[in-house]
Amino acid sequence: MKGVLFDLDGVITDTAKFHFKAWSKLAKDKLDVDLPASFETELKGVSRIDSMNKIIEFSGKQADFSEAEVAEMAAAKNDFYLKEIDKLTQKDILPGIENLLDALSANNILLSIASASKNAPFILKKLGLFERFDAIANPENVEHGKPAPDIFIEAANQIHVDPRECVGLEDAVAGVQAINDAKAVSVGIGNAEELNQADVVVKSTADLSYMLLDQAYGEHRK
Ligand code: BG6
Ligand code: MG
Repeated sequence: MKGVLFDLDGVITDTAKFHFKAWSKLAKDKLDVDLPASFETELKGVSRIDSMNKIIEFSGKQADFSEAEVAEMAAAKNDFYLKEIDKLTQKDILPGIENLLDALSANNILLSIASASKNAPFILKKLGLFERFDAIANPENVEHGKPAPDIFIEAANQIHVDPRECVGLEDAVAGVQAINDAKAVSVGIGNAEELNQADVVVKSTADLSYMLLDQAYGEHRK
């Protein structure tokens, strides 16, 4: 194992609730619909514009908006979201993550971010983790969002490592598929049934360790 490719939202910090709060407000204000709680999981790992389109589809109002209006609504959601995440601090780093970063760096493993979020650099700065990563893949530079493998391949390219020499960490079903298709070893974090396509699943970030990742790599490398 030469590199570890990290999803951000739900792996390094728990921002899903802020995304969902912002989407719920947007949906109510602009589309007059209440989003069911199940949408929080459905939108995990999905890009901003794809999430917006899913919500419009749910409202049944696809015919009412031009492409420019859709982009404007997605931007309004991001404004709410930015207000929410402005409060993030080092205390919002998920359990076990700082220890894991220390252990990986001590073992000369390169660390790269493979997040769909355009806010990843801002969030990492808020958490005090920006300097800890060797690279952050820019989602604007990849053609297809998760579940396509593009962002994980880009994250590996950024640290000049073959994805086959990497382990990827994900909390979303779409993200696990992306890691698998990038030919990295996938470690899912969350519900084992939901993430059953992952090579290895742990319940919580607190269960992650250098040993676990190294062993997963040894057993599941492609
Ligand atoms: C993913 C989140 O990490 O990033 C999604 O799981 C989000 O919920 C996506 O839509 C894009 O994020 P952003 O910050 O660019 O709107
Ligand atoms: Mg995630």
